[in-house]
Amino acid sequence: MDTRTLSLNDPHAEAEAVRVLAAGGLVALPTETVYGLAGDATRGESVARIFEAKGRPSFNPLIAHVSDREMARRIARFDASAERLADLFWPGPLTLVLPLEEGSPVHPLALAGLSSVAVRMPRGAASDIIAKLGRPLAAPSANASGRVSATSAGEVRRTLGGRIELILDGGLCALGLESTILKVEADGIRLLRPGALTVEEVEAATGAQILAASGGGIEAPGQMSSHYAPSGRVRLGARNVEPGEHFLAFGPQEVPGAGEAAALVNLSEAGDLREAAAGLFAALAGFDDPAIERIAVAPIPERGLGQAINDRLRRAAAPRE
Ligand code: TXA
Ligand code: MG
Repeated sequence: MDTRTLSLNDPHAEAEAVRVLAAGGLVALPTETVYGLAGDATRGESVARIFEAKGRPSFNPLIAHVSDREMARRIARFDASAERLADLFWPGPLTLVLPLEEGSPVHPLALAGLSSVAVRMPRGAASDIIAKLGRPLAAPSANASGRVSATSAGEVRRTLGGRIELILDGGLCALGLESTILKVEADGIRLLRPGALTVEEVEAATGAQILAASGGGIEAPGQMSSHYAPSGRVRLGARNVEPGEHFLAFGPQEVPGAGEAAALVNLSEAGDLREAAAGLFAALAGFDDPAIERIAVAPIPERGLGQAINDRLRRAAAPRE
């Protein structure tokens, strides 16, 4: 299949994306977090094609992306706490896992047999496209399953080119990390995946304490331990560089051995977590090369966005299945 790329600056780009999606096709489009591989969430064939294009196991459910609260309420049941979270953080980098609404238009294949559904309202062009289509979009991150999420159109093309109809190029994603996933339950709000919205921000705005995922089994089935994996072995918390290692640095400090690194990329010389989050996946992708055997990563503080950054790094370092 010939995959076309259109710049979001092209005045016809959004209309073309809507046309492809309405015909059941797949479009990779930028969101404020990462690029999504989008298809009509209400059509079984489109959803099946998403799993196929990504090489993703079909027991891993997809997020339904919406353009407004009405559309969200047709898909999922919102209690007062869910409404409040949506008031505070939508549109934005927050996904809510809620009970499935009766008669929800989302195709069962996108739900992987669960009675809950993940819903998110993105910002910007993605939202405009959903509004024009008038239907929710199923959209996992636009990468091959198990690989780092794409934050640029070029990265999308590298892994999904030839498998989808259209890529919308909106430049680099502003946040660079996937959305935070919260599950709203009777006894409180649980963190299923740390992401671009920090737990501190949610707690400060709601006054509620966010509970840890209840463990035991995979709560967000996509949260399998090995993920975002580059080809080489990843060593975390590195306070020195061993000769020949590729080094992912963070902050202004000199690291012993850095002079002997095979290559060095600093996620943020200023030690800014937001800058590090935005560049993390591009840096990991840059080190994802069969010729690169060893990657060392400097310690990243576990506060704010550091929680999500460290979550992704731990998965990149986890032993492969
Ligand atoms: O920022 C994002 O969230 C991006 C952009 C494109 O919106 N999307 C994204 O989708 O990261 P994906 O499919 O790569 O990750 C979604 C995660 C998966 O780990 C999946 O298992 C989990 O959400 N998930 C989906 N539905 C769920 C449900 N009902 N209960 C628990 N976890 C769910
Ligand atoms: Mg993903």
